[in-house]
Amino acid sequence: MLVTLKELVDRAAAGDYAVPAFNVYGYEDIAPVIRAAEELGAPVILAANIPAIKHMPLDYLAPQMLAAAQGASVPVCVHLDHGKDLPSCMEAIRHGFSSVMYDGSQLPLKDNIRTTEEIAEYAHAHGVSVEAEIGSVGYSDPSIAMKHILSDPEEVELFVRKTGIDAVAVSVGTVHRMETQGASIDFGLLQRIEDSVRVPLVIHGSSGVPDADLTRLVKTRVGKINIGTALRMAFGHTMRAEMERNPQAFDRVSLFQEPMKAVEAAAKQKLILMGCRGKGL
Ligand code: G3H
Ligand code: ZN
Repeated sequence: MLVTLKELVDRAAAGDYAVPAFNVYGYEDIAPVIRAAEELGAPVILAANIPAIKHMPLDYLAPQMLAAAQGASVPVCVHLDHGKDLPSCMEAIRHGFSSVMYDGSQLPLKDNIRTTEEIAEYAHAHGVSVEAEIGSVGYSDPSIAMKHILSDPEEVELFVRKTGIDAVAVSVGTVHRMETQGASIDFGLLQRIEDSVRVPLVIHGSSGVPDADLTRLVKTRVGKINIGTALRMAFGHTMRAEMERNPQAFDRVSLFQEPMKAVEAAAKQKLILMGCRGKGL
């Protein structure tokens, strides 16, 4: 069933689990993610980011995500990841998304607050949840010129109070697109942020978080943990192995079978680590 982000993360933040937001790019990862969640009785978030929408416009991608959510036996949120402005968030809401993230993390604080507030007002009037970021989670790829700034607890408090958002993405040591699990989380900083606000917290760039830290994170007020690279690696590496194993193969439906199973297994592993088993029943 389709649910909002707020419905999922309020419960998760209060409990000993966090809901993963998996970046999806089409049927080949939407279907295995939903299968993984259903098999575990777990809630899950399907997240479309800007590269996904550039590849497959929302007129095509949104109906697939919504059909998967509506047909699922577990709660599923359909979420815009790293929305860049009010129009992109409005577009996702028009397409039926139940949640949007606005990423104004590269802007001066007061501009980030102003736009986030505007988006929160619009989204809430449409029954849609809002996540926004303060501080900035950088990228491991040096060609992506995004700042990396740890979140300041006082700024987080001001940001949440002024904007009325449902969940706040904070920067506490993770970095986007890490291919190994070598991120170092500042749990002391996370605790100070927890002490300064009441809303659920969101961690981006979590493919790089070691398993032990994932299980530690879910016991805090973190309610949503974003995973992109780990699933793309599962799909891509398995796809390469399949093509090497069958150099003459050209039928993509058969070539996709093993990579889809690998995505399902990777999603299941993260759902279990995040304590989600049985939390969507
Ligand atoms: O917004 C999406 C995520 O933060 C994904 O990050 O690709 O490093 O797992 P990741
Ligand atoms: Zn992110």
